[in-house]
Amino acid sequence: MSITAATKVFGIIGDPVGHSLSPIMHNAWIADHGLDAVYVALPLKSDDPTAAIRAMKGLGFSGLNVTVPHKEAAAAAADRSEGAVANVLRWEEDGSVSAFNTDGAGFLDALSETAPDWRGRVQRVLMLGAGGAAQAIGQALSPHVVTIHFANRTAARAETAASAIRNGRVLRWDDLERGFGAADLVVQTTTLSMDGQPEQVWPLDYCRPTVIAADIVYRPLETEFLRAARARGLLGMDGLGMLIHQGARAFDLWFGIKPDTAKARERLIAALK
Ligand code: ATR
Repeated sequence: MSITAATKVFGIIGDPVGHSLSPIMHNAWIADHGLDAVYVALPLKSDDPTAAIRAMKGLGFSGLNVTVPHKEAAAAAADRSEGAVANVLRWEEDGSVSAFNTDGAGFLDALSETAPDWRGRVQRVLMLGAGGAAQAIGQALSPHVVTIHFANRTAARAETAASAIRNGRVLRWDDLERGFGAADLVVQTTTLSMDGQPEQVWPLDYCRPTVIAADIVYRPLETEFLRAARARGLLGMDGLGMLIHQGARAFDLWFGIKPDTAKARERLIAALK
């Protein structure tokens, strides 16, 4: 479909967004459904991102994904928001802006795909890291599990994340063996898994054989954490699932369509090669 004055514009704002897979994922879904829309990557460097996002209102955007470091600004810029941190914005017919967060639910969707029996099986969660992603996942998991222990290099952030949820706890970063030994689900949210980071040795030998090991990093697709977990026979979950499912939920919010997540996975794996 060619781009005209009527084409609806969607995009992702963040800094950086140059390597985002969201344009590939959303433009392919737009094409699958023959929609007159386009999805672009918009690097937003601003001292006042809330004002910058409010100004986008006048530019005719229909919807945006928001990534680091603008998720708080997006929630603040909206006329209504589900919470203080948003990864999806939608412009309504009346010109107002609604903000949503699909990160946590996207993680649960991915977990259900990997381990359909996780509810009941997962009672104790160990969260490695306490950044924005860890907090969103912790909040989504909280009603379904007994405890969530946050272990973070900077203890103060673990305390903040843990105190935000009813069953949040703090585990000392130098006490990971104990945390791995007690967990039914370990979620790796730190940047230590990313390409180019120094190698981290995780105490996976302490895990029970039924543990689910999830990494939210997808570059590389098989992180050292996942490789080591799978080498010990544990069930592993890579970071693409959360990316795809948070995106599918955003697509549904914008278009009222549930897109094909399996097809997205094939496309993104090809794009990562
Ligand atoms: P996001 O919001 O996407 O989760 P973030 O807020 O930058 O991203 O979080 C990155 C996480 O990786 C944090 O938990 C960070 O720990 P700190 O809070 O102590 O910074 C963690 N992290 C990054 N580099 C690390 C390192 N070398 N060792 C341990 N943890 C690290």
